[in-house]
Amino acid sequence: MNPTTPSSNLAGRRILLGVSGGIAAYKTAELIRLFKKAGAQVKVAMTPDATRFVTPLTLGTLSENEVFIEIFPENESGSWTKHVSLGLWADVYIVAPATAQTLSKLASGACDSMLTAVALTARCPMLLCPAMDHDMYVHPATIENLNTLRARGSLVMDAEHGELASGLIGQGRLPEPQAIFERANEILEAASRSKTGPLAGKKVLVTAGPTREAIDPVRYISNHSSGTMGYEIARSAARRGAEVILVSGPTSLKTPEGVRRVDVVSAAEMHRAATAQNDADLIIMVAAVADFTPATVAHSKIKKDGSSRTLQLEPTIDILAALGKSKRPHQTIIGFALETDDGMANAQDKLKRKNLDWIILNNPVEEGAGFGPGTNRVTLISNQGTVIELPKMPKDEVAEAILESVS
Ligand code: CTP
Repeated sequence: MNPTTPSSNLAGRRILLGVSGGIAAYKTAELIRLFKKAGAQVKVAMTPDATRFVTPLTLGTLSENEVFIEIFPENESGSWTKHVSLGLWADVYIVAPATAQTLSKLASGACDSMLTAVALTARCPMLLCPAMDHDMYVHPATIENLNTLRARGSLVMDAEHGELASGLIGQGRLPEPQAIFERANEILEAASRSKTGPLAGKKVLVTAGPTREAIDPVRYISNHSSGTMGYEIARSAARRGAEVILVSGPTSLKTPEGVRRVDVVSAAEMHRAATAQNDADLIIMVAAVADFTPATVAHSKIKKDGSSRTLQLEPTIDILAALGKSKRPHQTIIGFALETDDGMANAQDKLKRKNLDWIILNNPVEEGAGFGPGTNRVTLISNQGTVIELPKMPKDEVAEAILESVS
């Protein structure tokens, strides 16, 4: 797998990295870089000793997130429940390097730092990557701790053989960052496959929200989409056991439980992110993608000078049409049609033109339908001629009804 392209399955995945105090801690800088390049989100918890080997500033800068060390940091007056929220946030918790001391604490259930506390709150798979001197690694105490942790469900990557910091040769080296990166990816893929429900084993791509097309550094063109309909569809697909990737334009909504969210801003970014997931079994394009983008983006703020201006626009790529064109036999592709006039005719035309299985018609100016939170009233039209008219319903129920009908 090439971590330099966002097409890896790690896009939007939440990686929690626990770094304990061993010389191999420096390798985690490279590990974070690999995850970030693959489009994953990374948060880091370090033991106080780990900060002697690599600085929180380095790992915080690379991960683009705050680094957590103590459970009760000095000068912290706000919430003290980060060990719980971090544990729930993670899709996988990797402890690398896991020193003999940290393994002993994890085995006994100690929680004297953020790293050890999160090990008790995390509900995701935990991957331990021990690294230490050879004699410590083969000591019965360490072996017993690792066996205890394995028996509780932790996954362990064996240390490698080679030259150690002490100058001795033996087993105890941290595996290379690329190897840890690949193992984490395998673990995440296996976790997605093991879900249950009518969409278990299926990959679902949902796009949601508006896009923003920059005019200059402070202005953009966009629309009123709140993202609610797409988020509800993503939530409903995840509840049905699917692996869900939500490619989202700017919204203020919370990521639904069990959904991988990939944030984008412009139509071009949404196109790249959606194309990277074009192997999905079910594709539901709910996003209100801008149809036009400024032909040029000014590098500095355009100043007013009393004269009128003309904005030159050029068309964006029709993402749904592009996905429809390259549709594979196993795929079901669904589009939305936002129509103010001649709804049925326009929707049927889009269904055909974009090579879709279903199109979902809604009217943005109808009372209680279209953009915004609240309700929607939609009509489902299939390429087989089925027409299902749904009554006005809250958007979460509309999402349920859509997934029920199409899957
Ligand atoms: N869509 C897309 N890429 C675009 C524009 C639209 O993928 N650049 C998708 C939307 O997500 C939606 C479907 O195409 O699923 C229809 O969008 P809609 O705005 O109703 O229609 P358009 O294709 O943009 O056509 P028109 O504006 O002429 O109605």
